[in-house]
Amino acid sequence: MAKTRLACLLTLLSTHCYFSVLAVVLRTNNDSPWTDEFDKIELSCLIESISTTNPRIEWKKITNEGPSYVYFDKKISGDLENRAVIREPATLLITNATRSDTAKYRCEVTAADDQKSFDEIVIDLVVRVKPVVPKCSVPKSVPFGKSAELSCVEEEGFPKSQYQWFKNREEIPDDPKTSLKFFNSSYALNAETGTLKFIAVRKEDAGEYFCRAKNDAGYAECAAQKMEVYDIDLLGIILGVLVVVIVLLCITVGICCAYKQGYFSSQKQTGNNYKVPAKGDGVDYVRTEDEGDFRHKSSFVI
Ligand SMILES: *[C@@H]1O[C@H](CO)[C@@H](O)[C@H](O)[C@H]1NC(C)=O
Ligand SMILES: *[C@@H]1O[C@H](CO)[C@@H](O)[C@H](O)[C@H]1NC(C)=O
Repeated sequence: MAKTRLACLLTLLSTHCYFSVLAVVLRTNNDSPWTDEFDKIELSCLIESISTTNPRIEWKKITNEGPSYVYFDKKISGDLENRAVIREPATLLITNATRSDTAKYRCEVTAADDQKSFDEIVIDLVVRVKPVVPKCSVPKSVPFGKSAELSCVEEEGFPKSQYQWFKNREEIPDDPKTSLKFFNSSYALNAETGTLKFIAVRKEDAGEYFCRAKNDAGYAECAAQKMEVYDIDLLGIILGVLVVVIVLLCITVGICCAYKQGYFSSQKQTGNNYKVPAKGDGVDYVRTEDEGDFRHKSSFVI
């Protein structure tokens, strides 16, 4: 069959070929066309040889749910209605492609009187969709030496978006070892999933980050977000803990002393204590009552 067709193609002018084999033979200019969403696209179906002047032409859309009619009984049907026309002889022209048009399409031509009365070709159409603004997540501040993960997700784009990350407007290379600037950074960048993972952040990793989702149809970026890196100073922590312990110790000792003193004084000054609250607020009360004691304690703590 293929041989016969090839022979026909090669010897197009040979009358022998035309008259002895009455066969429907189809051809296409492009069996895997693509277009951007809302553009037009031609699914070419050319009739190479046929004897009938009025053949039956049908187009079917083949998706996972099975085939459905697109052109049948000389009418465009289904969801392509009002968005497609037939251009002679059998080419399907989609005037405003949508993302749901991505599918396989089958052009079928029947000529009842021909010896080989039927031929079909399948065209694989891709309608590209521009990415929308991706959702980016950048941690605001990360402790020095800890891990950090930045993520970027975009789900509208078709074909599926690939991701790039930028730091201070400069693209981050896939492999830090390929760049002098990022050489010592510990990140791993996944262009497929959009994650940028630092194993251990350095001070130099701080900066403004944004992500770009891109595919053949275009790209979109999220707004830059700042990531800060703060130091966990070990010596500082130890000193801090030490200070807290000392302060707690002093307070404990102070309370013990006050308790011992206060235990006796409260018995002596009961009369005084009852009078004072009626006069004014508690702060005054404490200050006036135990002025000497208060000063003594505070100087002790400091
Ligand atoms: C194509 O279709 C979209 C939505 O269905 C519409 O917004 C747009 O205006 C159409 N474009 C043309 C050129 O008809
Ligand atoms: C990377 O680290 C090495 C050793 O710690 C240092 O000599 C070099 O200057 C660093 N490079 C950059 C670009 O920071």
